[in-house]
Amino acid sequence: MTVIVAAPIALAPATPGQPRFAVLPPLALYVHIPWCLKKCPYCDFNSHEIRGDPEPERYVAALLADLEFALPSIWGRKVVSVFIGGGTPSVFPAATIDALVAGIRARVPLLPDAEVTLEANPGTFERERFAGFRTAGVNRLSLGIQSFDDAQLIALGRVHDAGEAQRAAEAAMVIFGNVNLDLMYALPGQTVEAARTDLATALSFAPPHLSFYHLTLEPNTLFHRHPPALPDEDTVAAIDDAVDATLAAAGYVHYETSAHAKPGRECRHNLNYWQFGDYLGIGAGAHSKLSFPDGIRRELRHKQPRRYLERVAAGAPLQETTVVTRDDVGFEFMLNALRLNAGVPSSLFAERTGYPLAAIANELAEATARGLLEADPTTLKATPLGRRFLNDLQALFLRERTAGAA
Ligand SMILES: C[S@@+](CC[C@H](N)C(=O)[O-])C[C@H]1O[C@@H](n2cnc3c(N)ncnc32)[C@H](O)[C@@H]1O
Ligand code: SF4
Repeated sequence: MTVIVAAPIALAPATPGQPRFAVLPPLALYVHIPWCLKKCPYCDFNSHEIRGDPEPERYVAALLADLEFALPSIWGRKVVSVFIGGGTPSVFPAATIDALVAGIRARVPLLPDAEVTLEANPGTFERERFAGFRTAGVNRLSLGIQSFDDAQLIALGRVHDAGEAQRAAEAAMVIFGNVNLDLMYALPGQTVEAARTDLATALSFAPPHLSFYHLTLEPNTLFHRHPPALPDEDTVAAIDDAVDATLAAAGYVHYETSAHAKPGRECRHNLNYWQFGDYLGIGAGAHSKLSFPDGIRRELRHKQPRRYLERVAAGAPLQETTVVTRDDVGFEFMLNALRLNAGVPSSLFAERTGYPLAAIANELAEATARGLLEADPTTLKATPLGRRFLNDLQALFLRERTAGAA
């Protein structure tokens, strides 16, 4: 049966074990574009080298068909943000992104002030498209800088140099103003001084948002098979401290594990993930989490771009659908919420999961007793110790599946 949902919605009493929502969570839209000019040796995202592959118009037509397929699952709900990510969406021409944004607007109601982000690389041919992306209705640009150091960019296998990164950041600030710069740290051979220099260059553009990712060696990457020499733990801790202190002094709030923003300039799309909002993900390998009156569902679309295109044409883009059970939901909520340094109000748990907070009372008591979670009953927030051992804190909410458990 097709479930038609309008938000907000008040519901009849749920069957025991099922969630019960007073109001459905906010809904965001993620759009995956799985191509890049070149695959970076550290990257485990669902991204593939172009090699004359993508046929942008054909892929955008598939995305819009995919969105139409999904409409019954989000009927009547307004979309609060759109994130066009990848891969590198800026490898698509501005006219194709324009057709995509217009196609989305024609099919789903966006809030008038919806944040529409596009991920871009700083290469020259991409920079020349920025104005066209802005005209297409993209109102936030997320630029994958990684480093402003030429030697590092070579070590990371990037296709742009430091000069291009600087020119792209400058152009993004002029054209969008609403900009995020992605940088990575703990790079091969990086010193604290080198990380400080990268940070100072990033700050010289005064972007309202900065993401600092600790470079991780992901399985299935070239760096995992042939690891470069990375800085030791003490150096990484010193870089962490330097980044935090410099950004705090410059007026940025460290609001999530890897994200810093000027007050009020947090990424609304990502905040919705961390606050356990709903999201529809379209495109190759995209994930969705959608709430319905009688449950929460996760969906995964076919990952291989060619397979995805075939399956969309056949009217069946989904590879997998799973129901989030009462046993799973505590961990899934905390996995996200505890990344936020200010935590979330305790009341958000029932709002976003449909279950009372009492469903995770034992886990909360244990996390608090171990000094990993603040004792304040009005918020769910990691202590400084909990932030340091975030994986251990989140793991406390994992439950073994018991057959037949609801
Ligand atoms: C999906 S990528 C998109 C950005 C764009 N394609 C680019 O690379 O410029 C998002 C960000 O994830 C980060 N990232 C990718 N792989 C990473 C890794 N192994 N460790 C830490 N950060 C990583 C990079 O900072 C990158 O900008
Ligand atoms: S880091 Fe960005 S450009 Fe590099 S392979 Fe991953 S998604 Fe593509």
